Amino acid sequence: MSDALKREAARAALDEVRSGMRIGLGTGSTAKHFVDLLGEKVAQGFDCLCVPTSIATECQARDLAIPLTTLEEIDSLDLTVDGTDEIDRDFQLIKGGGAALLREKIVAAASARMVVIADDSKLVEHLGKFPLPIEVNPFGLAATQRSVAKVLSNMGATGGLVLRKSTDGEILITDGGHYILDASFGRISDAKALSTALLEIPGVVQHGLFIGLCQQAYLATPNGVIQLSR
Ligand code: A5P
Repeated sequence: MSDALKREAARAALDEVRSGMRIGLGTGSTAKHFVDLLGEKVAQGFDCLCVPTSIATECQARDLAIPLTTLEEIDSLDLTVDGTDEIDRDFQLIKGGGAALLREKIVAAASARMVVIADDSKLVEHLGKFPLPIEVNPFGLAATQRSVAKVLSNMGATGGLVLRKSTDGEILITDGGHYILDASFGRISDAKALSTALLEIPGVVQHGLFIGLCQQAYLATPNGVIQLSR
């Protein structure tokens, strides 16, 4: 996806923001555009209060002087705008390509509405081509890996399980101090059953399936931005 298209999707989602809103700020290269554009509005006097979904987004928002708060200080959010790795026709998502899935899901779940911004290549008939990120506690990693592999095999996964590394070759550590296992499925036939099975494993902190959280998507194409609503 070109950066220009990402920005167009982000710009379209600005239609969703209203003065005084409490907004969840997503993570990733598309969400970064939204934060930039919101920063421009804030510089012109726009009133909002935001909760970032990662340390990276928090730093970006601080640089832009976007007012920030936490879920300790406020009970709920009006809106979250975030990118996605995949979205299907039921508005189920795979997220976590940027390793921020845990905070992203906490923030989305605390929001009245979640709006996704992406290009239309992220719209899929079936989830699973993009490897599913699974955030795990470092303690007992091998035991957790074995349990996750068993779930994968029961759910018909075609590929393996990879412990995510950073660009420097070291094990990637999330903002919450956890590891990420990327699970290749090929096709996820029952996202809800998979979600339940993964969350039953004690070492699994969270996974990147977002079910029932997203209500709307702005998908950029070379011919304009398509809006999908649930
Ligand atoms: C971050 O953990 C992810 O959930 C991102 O929102 C997702 O990977 C989309 O990122 P891009 O906008 O960079 O494609």
